[in-house]
Amino acid sequence: MSSFTLNERPVRFALDPQTPLLHAIRDAANLTGTKYGCGTGDCGACMVIVDGEALRSCLITLAEAEGRFVTTIEGLSRDRSHPVQQAMVAQQAIQCGFCTPGIAMAAAALLAKNADPSESEITAAIPNLCRCGVYPRLLEAVRQAGRVTRRQETISAAPAPGISTQDASLSVPAITPVPDSEAAVE
Ligand code: FES
Ligand code: FES
Repeated sequence: MSSFTLNERPVRFALDPQTPLLHAIRDAANLTGTKYGCGTGDCGACMVIVDGEALRSCLITLAEAEGRFVTTIEGLSRDRSHPVQQAMVAQQAIQCGFCTPGIAMAAAALLAKNADPSESEITAAIPNLCRCGVYPRLLEAVRQAGRVTRRQETISAAPAPGISTQDASLSVPAITPVPDSEAAVE
């Protein structure tokens, strides 16, 4: 049994303590906003914030998360209103979107510590890979999110996504029970 705080709620996972945090939050908690890219710590798609640091959840076990405060993209803001989220939309720093949650978490962790980062500080804090190559726009988005964080600028709210995060979670088939009538028979 592993206990920690996930998106401000105390949780307990009855899983092997060596289970990667990524699999616990995606497959057991159904928080599928955190993406599984490489599983080897290279891409950053799985980044979550643990005790204020952006970490790759594929490299952390449940045992290592014990007692800590973990935030996933679903917990960054309830309504996608975090400056990083708003700025990434405003700067169109998203193409396929697969890398986006991990990048948003890395950027949010950076701005929480340093709301006016230099270009080199941004690139050092966000090592995430993006196959679509949004890097130039991402740089602008992080700069804009910094200005918003410093209250030097506001961003008009991004359009509503058209689906609630709760509904999105419910529609993920990973934990939907398979009816007996459809179960595979040898
Ligand atoms: S899935 Fe964790 S770094 Fe790629
Ligand atoms: S937007 Fe497609 S991988 Fe980054």
